Amino acid sequence: QVTPPAASAAVACPPAPAGAPATGGGTTAPVTFEPGSAGIGDPYYPLDGNGGYDVQNYDLDLAYDPATDVLAGTATIDLVATQNLSAFNLDFDTRDAAGADSIVIGDVRVDGASTAFSLASTQISLVTAQPVGDGSPDAVAEPPRTELTVMPATGILSGTELSVEVDYAGVPITIDDAFGLGGVLHTPDGMVPVGQPRAAAVWFPSNDHPADKATLTMSMTVPIGLDVIGNGVLASTVDNGPTSTWTYVMDRPMATYLATAVVGDYDVQTTTVDGVTYRDAVAQSLYSQGTLGADARTALDLNPDVIAYLSSIYGPYPFTESGGIAVDLPDLGYALENQTRPIYGFIDEPTVVHELAHQWYGDDVAIERWSDIWLNEAFATYSEWLWSEDHGGDTAQQIFDDTYSLDASDPFWSVEVADPGAPRLFDNATYYRGAMTLHALRLEVGDPVFFGILRGWAADNAGGNVSTAQFEAYASAAAGTDLSGFFDTWIHSSVKP
Ligand code: ARG
Ligand code: ZN
Repeated sequence: QVTPPAASAAVACPPAPAGAPATGGGTTAPVTFEPGSAGIGDPYYPLDGNGGYDVQNYDLDLAYDPATDVLAGTATIDLVATQNLSAFNLDFDTRDAAGADSIVIGDVRVDGASTAFSLASTQISLVTAQPVGDGSPDAVAEPPRTELTVMPATGILSGTELSVEVDYAGVPITIDDAFGLGGVLHTPDGMVPVGQPRAAAVWFPSNDHPADKATLTMSMTVPIGLDVIGNGVLASTVDNGPTSTWTYVMDRPMATYLATAVVGDYDVQTTTVDGVTYRDAVAQSLYSQGTLGADARTALDLNPDVIAYLSSIYGPYPFTESGGIAVDLPDLGYALENQTRPIYGFIDEPTVVHELAHQWYGDDVAIERWSDIWLNEAFATYSEWLWSEDHGGDTAQQIFDDTYSLDASDPFWSVEVADPGAPRLFDNATYYRGAMTLHALRLEVGDPVFFGILRGWAADNAGGNVSTAQFEAYASAAAGTDLSGFFDTWIHSSVKP
């Protein structure tokens, strides 16, 4: 076993990598290589993501057996070093809450060569000093975050492209925390990888933070007869006899938490409308539970109409694929905006509108830091209000007024929307005060400017990452006036506006 370099230790004069400048000439400073940091720099989740490189593509070649819950195969991560690296980390939560290995790593290769690696687990506790908005706890015990440190034999120069392969096998963990269930949920006939902010690192080694988006190819081999539903285009299905291999390609950059590979017995229907291919899956087991299956199908059938409606407001749908996956997990309690294919733990019309709106706001335009979660949730929630108004339900103004009627002493008003604190990422304030902020902005700047802001924000930041400060600047520029006072009142304050 090899001891990893200490996180802060610079490694001077490692074996010179090919192409490294000569260091013996006297006038050239020696090239130094340092380990990439164990986190990408997000204060809410300090160990999420990593420093020193940028992932370009994940290629997962995996097999899953529902009889044993074992997931096994190889993840290939194409990355570019952004500093001179002596070592670098991947997030890979291979240990359960008791510290036991749930997944065992067989081999790690860098550009084809077996490479030393180590694993270090840290207990995560989410704490905040902020007041409670909707009853979420102040501190939340999480299963440990495990860092996989890869230690190549020679230093890696900044700008170098690397291909990192990780072979692994095991039963991925399920996370049960204040945000509910997440990670990999095992069902009688399959699995559902789902969660936010933690999900990806439970089933594949990754730079697990939305700030490092990457494309994804996911191949999953399962017992014959089961379905696999992933992100993007279903590129191929291969019948291997006792098994079948399904390959999905997500060719636009994606935040890691949006990746999925749902396995099980599903009723899958596909249709193509206006150049978008819809793949809508309903867990077969829902059909034997009253009207759950039929209701899920009815809701998913709304997808093309919802995309048409949202496109008319926000601009072209960012992807060529869409759909949704209604899973049979009564305890999940939420839906998630997985890129091109949201997962529904429950499903109804507003939820479909919400998750599809996230395809613009949250997915194609992703946040740079988790504190900016309102840039996802407020936009998706306000989309529900717009849909309601357009479809004979309450108007956006009525929903705003209802929420505004909450007494000033209600803890709802105490959560700062643009910085809710890690345990309150999904506080009601993120959704409702956030959506109220958008409605108030609409009243402040008028409809033409407001809808121009929403459209332009999606178009100008397509495929990228954004921050609250950028949105404030963008809105102010569009309105031709400094809106910082407005935003201070609505999203940087912990009292009722
Ligand atoms: N982003 C999801 C939504 O569409 C919420 C996810 C909540 N996450 C969780 N782990 N409970 O609103
Ligand atoms: Zn949402």
